[in-house]
Amino acid sequence: VKKVRIPHLRELKERGEPWPMLTAYDMYTAQLFDEAGIPVLLVGDSAANNVFGYETSLPVTVDEMLPLVRAVTRATKRALVVADLPFGSYQLSPEQALATSVRFMKEGRAHAVKLEGGRKFAPHIEAVTSAGVPVMAHIGFTPQSEHNLGGYRVQGRGRAGDELVADALAVQEAGAFAVVLEMVPAEVAKRITHELDIPTVGIGAGSDCDAQVLVWQDMAGLRRGKIPRFVKRYADLAGVLSGAASAFADEVRRGEFPAPEHAFH
Ligand code: KIV
Ligand code: NA
Repeated sequence: VKKVRIPHLRELKERGEPWPMLTAYDMYTAQLFDEAGIPVLLVGDSAANNVFGYETSLPVTVDEMLPLVRAVTRATKRALVVADLPFGSYQLSPEQALATSVRFMKEGRAHAVKLEGGRKFAPHIEAVTSAGVPVMAHIGFTPQSEHNLGGYRVQGRGRAGDELVADALAVQEAGAFAVVLEMVPAEVAKRITHELDIPTVGIGAGSDCDAQVLVWQDMAGLRRGKIPRFVKRYADLAGVLSGAASAFADEVRRGEFPAPEHAFH
């Protein structure tokens, strides 16, 4: 199997071939998504919400994230695995960003890291990439700043669109190999995608990005209730799993499971 490398993602952009990215936080999902041909897997700090049950992404720590990154890289043969740096683990200084990135590369065996922020984080991106660690940037709506941004809202509307373009150019200049655009107007995402040489990865950013990312539990319908407008559910995993659990419970209660063929004699 040929491993996905960063130049390959650039080639896809040049050829105009959009590519998919999914989050993964454990061995089975990593294996399945890798085998399904997803070229980039993100161990997102969205593990805060989708694995650990926190209400925001802010509480999750490096020590909580590292075992998840290790599990995903261990289970992956082809995909490029990107580790998301959690809140508080890189914002203090470029030195802190590099130190945390080194932990994710050495202890997590990640292939790249991701961090949130535009122009103001160019020095951080530069410090990490200069040390040889590939960085995926993330601009637009950045969940680690949700309190400052006033909740989940579209970023870069109107005049703020120019600011977003400046952020995108700055992270590219700082050495980022790709940039996530989250919840930005499709027109702005299209403009950024045309202006940049590096791939844009959209989430709620329209169809003109070079790549598209979703949180896997959203994509597969494991998360129930109201979902953001930008999510499409490709399966009803919540229905499948709760159906299986109920069927198992019923059969045990009725004395139907285990049947003779499930027992040793
Ligand atoms: O943590 C995450 O899942 C993310 C993606 C949605 C881009 O940052
Ligand atoms: Na994230």
